[in-house]
Amino acid sequence: MQNITTTLKKYFYLWKRSQVPVKQSIKISRIDNLIIFLICILISIISSYKLLLISPLNITDIFSWLLNFSEVLICSGILILVSKKENPTISSRQIILIITLLLAVQATKLALASTISPLSMIIPPALIISQGMGSITALAWVSIASLSWPDPEIAINNNLFFILLVCASIVSLLGGRIRSRAQLLQLSIFVPIGSFLSQWILIGKDKISLINQQDFVLSNGDIFSDSLLLAIVMLFTILFIPIFESIFGLLTKARLLELADKEKPLIRRLSLEAPGTFEHTLLICGLAEEATRMIGGDIDLIKTGALYHDVGKLHAPNWFIENQDGSKNPHDELDDPIKSAEVLQAHVDEGLKFARKNRLPKLIANFIPEHQGTLRMGYFFQKAKEKNLDINENYFRYKGPIPQSKETAILMLADGCEAALRAMNINASDKEALETISNIINSRQNDGQLDDSNLSKGEIFLIKRAFLNVWKRIRHRRIQYPTSKNNTFS
Ligand SMILES: [Fe+2]
Ligand SMILES: [Fe+2]
Repeated sequence: MQNITTTLKKYFYLWKRSQVPVKQSIKISRIDNLIIFLICILISIISSYKLLLISPLNITDIFSWLLNFSEVLICSGILILVSKKENPTISSRQIILIITLLLAVQATKLALASTISPLSMIIPPALIISQGMGSITALAWVSIASLSWPDPEIAINNNLFFILLVCASIVSLLGGRIRSRAQLLQLSIFVPIGSFLSQWILIGKDKISLINQQDFVLSNGDIFSDSLLLAIVMLFTILFIPIFESIFGLLTKARLLELADKEKPLIRRLSLEAPGTFEHTLLICGLAEEATRMIGGDIDLIKTGALYHDVGKLHAPNWFIENQDGSKNPHDELDDPIKSAEVLQAHVDEGLKFARKNRLPKLIANFIPEHQGTLRMGYFFQKAKEKNLDINENYFRYKGPIPQSKETAILMLADGCEAALRAMNINASDKEALETISNIINSRQNDGQLDDSNLSKGEIFLIKRAFLNVWKRIRHRRIQYPTSKNNTFS
């Protein structure tokens, strides 16, 4: 009998899963797809056409050109797939940026390969890609840019090739983790110094030229000027990264930290005009950060996303309980549950407008609708049911979408648990707190809100434990320490 019940439950779960709308992948318009394809073709032509210039041309040459052409085309395709895999929400503009950088490098190689060191051509774009799109995409880009050389007559020194791969990989790996502009500057100084020393050791001292020589920057094989040029190009790249951020919508760690600054005008407004919401936001930041650290997610992203998730409440702060300060509740005066539900939905719609006005990156703006998902506004739904039994539940559900990433899902769970944890009795045991957290999280899970988030059962368990840890911290802060009247030390 128990087996039948388990099987039925399993089928019921599968049926429920099948009713969930298929996760929408990023939509790239036909024109963008065509532009991307054309750039890939152009890269392949630039990378291989020199093979056709040999005279007399025979079948083997044509075959090796065809091989080279398709190899570069396939590699470009793989690069796009890798970038999509690492950044599921990547936009067509960002894909165009990645392949345009590849096109620019291939064209530069063709024009300047004999005068500029490959380090200065490949490392700076790798820094932009690792900052904006992540280390794996940057590594994939570096491998294509380093392996494909359009001019068959140019042969790179094996040692230089090795140094290029090591330096570009270091920049790709560190670039994805660097959290401030100052660290970027350090990278732009230490990588050229490192490349200089390694070239000195592996290639030789005789290739070093100093400042008093005429062909200071452009002499090929000149280790000192090559490294200096690399440092200059990297510094210029760092200067231009903020421009790339705004044109291509890149979300670098440094930009995330800048957005998380509580002195930003929108956050200052939130703290002044909606102090209750601001307090709620700060507590949620703590909960979400702890949970994200537990499951190994993007902490900087969730901290910034949490800060902006309820900015839409600025459109009518006193309609939200946390800002009411014991005064009259406007919802009671309105006495219309449907209109009240519309006010609640408006905090999402207005939040998205604030995000657009303040040019918040898409990944941050996603937290605004996804933290509410398609949750039911239970209180007003009950009120409406008391008045009219045939009321449509859809009027009392947020418009969604449900969380599409682990980070937005964690924020939804933190948002749900915050009020309950804040209101919990100071003497409540850990078991009671965990039970409250589990009930809230399980209800959201059973409602299908976590279906698109990719959170595993193990991760949900860890999130519960993380919220419990934060609750213990809150409880500890609220404990009044005994103080004696004569206590003059602190
Ligand atoms: Fe909200
Ligand atoms: Fe909230």
